[in-house]
Amino acid sequence: MSASPTMNASVAKSLLSVKNVTMKFGGLVANDDISFEVAEGSIHAVIGPNGAGKTTLFNVISGFFPPTSGAVEFDSQPITGLPQHAIAQAGLVRTYQLVQLFKDLTVAENVRVGFHRVTKGGIAAALFRPGWAKAQEADLTRRTAELLNFVGLTAQAEMKAEVLPYGQQRLLEVARALAAEPKLLLLDEPAAGLNVQETDQLAATIEKLSARGVTVLLVEHDMSLVMRVARRISVIDFGRKIAEGTPAEIKTNPDVLAAYLGGTETDA
Ligand SMILES: Nc1ncnc2c1ncn2[C@@H]1O[C@H](COP(=O)(O)OP(=O)(O)OP(=O)(O)O)[C@@H](O)[C@H]1O
Ligand SMILES: [Mg+2]
Repeated sequence: MSASPTMNASVAKSLLSVKNVTMKFGGLVANDDISFEVAEGSIHAVIGPNGAGKTTLFNVISGFFPPTSGAVEFDSQPITGLPQHAIAQAGLVRTYQLVQLFKDLTVAENVRVGFHRVTKGGIAAALFRPGWAKAQEADLTRRTAELLNFVGLTAQAEMKAEVLPYGQQRLLEVARALAAEPKLLLLDEPAAGLNVQETDQLAATIEKLSARGVTVLLVEHDMSLVMRVARRISVIDFGRKIAEGTPAEIKTNPDVLAAYLGGTETDA
């Protein structure tokens, strides 16, 4: 089989299509007619001031609640209104704005929990390993080790998740999400609360994801991280998409500068 003659990002397939999504909470319009495409293999960032509607958009995309109107397509299939587990099963996996680990489990066990989408027997089998599950045991052990190595947590494998510094807990969440073998990974403010060194390690990990065939959609306030890793940026303000482009285009966009200078953000 010959290699594809063109690997140009501009002709890459759209993996996620957000089409005219509106999400209302009573009288509040949290997402107002938002449309954008995430190209397969891309690292795409969604930025905007606090309360702009970024997490709401992630909640709609990942099936936490259906939009008031509009549609979401993933991998050429409509997913609007599907339950979260069905969307995750299709390969769209997310992490949350606040860390959500099993703090009493070890680092390795937290990764194992993430395999339940792709292994027989679910979480119970992943953790308690009845006889019939042993056939996949060696494979899971190998894949857990590979994922911990990928995020740089090999030395911490047997530690309780709760003793990890915050930055490593974030990386562990990424490893657990990767265990589900996502095609698209949604990260909601992965750098929140991280120091400069931890953010740098996170950025390096995000940049390595494309090489694994994982497309990334990222909500983030840390502009140095966004400008470093994102190939494309969509900007949301008061629920509406006000701009989209490359990092260089977004940095100099007058509407974006006005949104940040007029808001409460100081880190743009
Ligand atoms: N489940 C909900 N019920 C009612 N209102 C909500 C709900 N979720 C979000 N909102 C409101 O929608 C608006 C957008 O919130 P959202 O959390 O999406 O913003 P955000 O861009 O993620 O902000 P931040 O950067 O602070 O995380 C806010 O006014 C928020 O109070
Ligand atoms: Mg948010």
